[in-house]
Amino acid sequence: MKLPKPGTIEINPSILSADFARLADELAVVERAGAKMVHLDIMDGHFVPNITIGPPVVEKLRKHSKLFFDCHLMISEPRKYAPIFIKAGANNITFHIEVEKRPSDLIKKLHDMGATAGLCLNPETPVKTIEKFARLADMILVMTVHPGFGGQKFIASAAKKIEIVRKIVGPDIRVEVDGGIDVKSTPIVVGYGADTLVAGRAIFSKKDRIAAINAIRKASQ
Ligand code: DX5
Ligand code: ZN
Repeated sequence: MKLPKPGTIEINPSILSADFARLADELAVVERAGAKMVHLDIMDGHFVPNITIGPPVVEKLRKHSKLFFDCHLMISEPRKYAPIFIKAGANNITFHIEVEKRPSDLIKKLHDMGATAGLCLNPETPVKTIEKFARLADMILVMTVHPGFGGQKFIASAAKKIEIVRKIVGPDIRVEVDGGIDVKSTPIVVGYGADTLVAGRAIFSKKDRIAAINAIRKASQ
C-alpha cells in the first residue's frame, strides 16, 4: 500500500464520524466508493481533549482492508508511539509540528520503518515552523479546525495557509487538509492547492456514504 502519487485529488474519509461498532464495514464501503486511502484519527486525551483508537484497533482493521492507512497522530509523544502504529499497519504517520522538536529526524525514522511521513499544522501554527523540513515529508497536513472533534466549522483563514504550503513544497508533495471539508469548502481548498481531502462528517453523517464521497469528488473537479 503506497501513498497515491501526487497529481491526483484523493478523498480521504476520516472514520472519526463513522460507526465505531462497525468499522470494518465502514472501510469496505469507502473502498467500494473508490477511495484509495482512509484517515485514522488517533487522539490521546492530552494533546487534544478527546480519546479515540489505539494500535490494537489499527491492527485488527488492517486484516479487513487494503486501503492506505493514513494515521493522524494527535498525541503528545508521536516519536514514542509511531513505531507501534507502523507495526500495527499504519502506512503513513502524520505528526504535529507543535510537539516535535526534531522533525527531520522523526521523518527519517518513519522512512526507515517503511512508512511515509506527514507534518501537521494546527490552525494557529504559522507555516514558517515547517518551512525547513517540509520538503523532507511526503505530505503536509493543514488543519482547518482545532483538532479533537469531528463536525466542526471550517476555519477559512487557516485554509489560506494551503497556498503558502503549496508554494514551498511544489507539486511533488501531497498537501492534505482536515476539518470541515464538504461540498462547499472543497472548491476553496482545491483552489489553494490541496490534493488530499479529509472528510469525516460530510461522509459518515450521510446514510449513503458512496453518494457523499462522489459529491465531494465532483466538487473537487
Ligand atoms: C479532527 C480530526 C479530523 C476530523 C475531521 O480533529 O483530525 O480528521 O475527523 O472531521 P470533519 O470532516 O467532520 O471536520
Ligand atoms: Zn484528522
